[in-house]
Amino acid sequence: MTMNRLIAFAIIALCSLATPLSGVAEENIATLRGNAALNQQGEAPVTAKPMKDDVKRHRNYPMQPPVIPHNIQGYQVDLKVNKCLSCHARKRAEDAQAPMISVTHYMDRDGNFLADVSPRRYFCNQCHVQQSDARPLVENQFKDIDQILKESGK
Ligand code: HEC
Ligand code: HEC
Repeated sequence: MTMNRLIAFAIIALCSLATPLSGVAEENIATLRGNAALNQQGEAPVTAKPMKDDVKRHRNYPMQPPVIPHNIQGYQVDLKVNKCLSCHARKRAEDAQAPMISVTHYMDRDGNFLADVSPRRYFCNQCHVQQSDARPLVENQFKDIDQILKESGK
């Protein structure tokens, strides 16, 4: 093979590799920025509405942090103030009629129970998010353990 042929061959090989890949990117990733060209500002997507109907949502597995079913706009959580704990702390739950943060929120990483909320559970929004009415970006094939057990006939 001459050098030219070798290069041509390499280009063809690369192209046939790249085509299916770019197809995937267009379908799944490119849609995040819409059809806007790379050097253009796309139209901002409609902001999904947070659901704040005070109705508890289903948990897909016991260890799932429940989603927040109420408004949290402007709720301050920083070194000095934790708005969430003003209702969800053990001492506040009765007055606020809010579910108390569960016992895991009082445990350090070695499993010891602390008197107050553990620092690793202080920044609530690290794990808890509001449910919104957004459509899923990609298809979700998650199956509940109950469904898996049912399908396996147990
Ligand atoms: C004014 C009191 C109040 C504040 C402040 C508050 N919550 Fe709540 N929260 C509640 C109440 C009451 C419920 C029970 C459902 C409802 O009424 O919305 C609840 C429900 C929840 C739930 C659902 C629990 C479950 O079992 O499904 C989560 C998670 C939660 N809150 C997290 C937070 C986080 C995180 C913050 C701070 C960003 C926060 N809350 C601030 C009162 C409060
Ligand atoms: C590191 C992740 C994490 C952080 C940070 C965190 N949580 Fe949770 N939370 C969870 C998980 C996981 C669950 C469900 C299992 C459990 O109870 O541990 C949960 C459960 C809850 C529940 C339901 C309790 C129940 O008994 O049903 C409430 C209410 C809650 N969290 C509020 C909060 C608040 C308020 C904060 C901030 C002070 C917070 N969480 C911080 C992970 C977290």
